[in-house]
Amino acid sequence: MIVKKENQELEISFKLKIYEHISDLPLPLADLVRLSIEGIKISYAPYSNFLVGAAVLTKSGKMFVGANQENAAYPQCMCGERVALYHAAMASPHDAIEAVAISVKNKDKDIFDPVMPCGACRQVISEYENRYNNDIMILLRTSDDKVYVVNSVKDILPLGFNQTFL
Ligand code: THU
Repeated sequence: MIVKKENQELEISFKLKIYEHISDLPLPLADLVRLSIEGIKISYAPYSNFLVGAAVLTKSGKMFVGANQENAAYPQCMCGERVALYHAAMASPHDAIEAVAISVKNKDKDIFDPVMPCGACRQVISEYENRYNNDIMILLRTSDDKVYVVNSVKDILPLGFNQTFL
């Protein structure tokens, strides 16, 4: 997050890095993105037909997969990102989270823009950044296998709510 302060105004901006192909990413990030694509296959999304796979990388080098889980009672649906994050936090609780990769599939169309995590998932990613005092890289893979990289959730959730207010 880039914060510029001029006169009585704050200007907040951020940079997205774009990789033309998954294979241009360094390891293990390329493998993490590939795991998020595998996650699409285990999505349970019979209502929206919008399949979301996610994969989390921890500091110790472990990877955990997740996918969205829908429910006939719609508000109970859970995003793929949060399934993967909770999977990691349960299986390896003292292991900082380093990165989360996200891949989606819309059966009706390809998507060439980065599909960003929803607001609720941004808040949950932010909690893990604070818990482990470690920025979490967010990797967004498009249908043509480009990857957009955000360095920290603070970039896409600036001025977020956190524990310092409590
Ligand atoms: N979804 C995610 O898994 N992640 C997001 O960040 C946004 C939306 C899921 C929820 C629901 O299963 C489907 O996509 C359509 O909203």
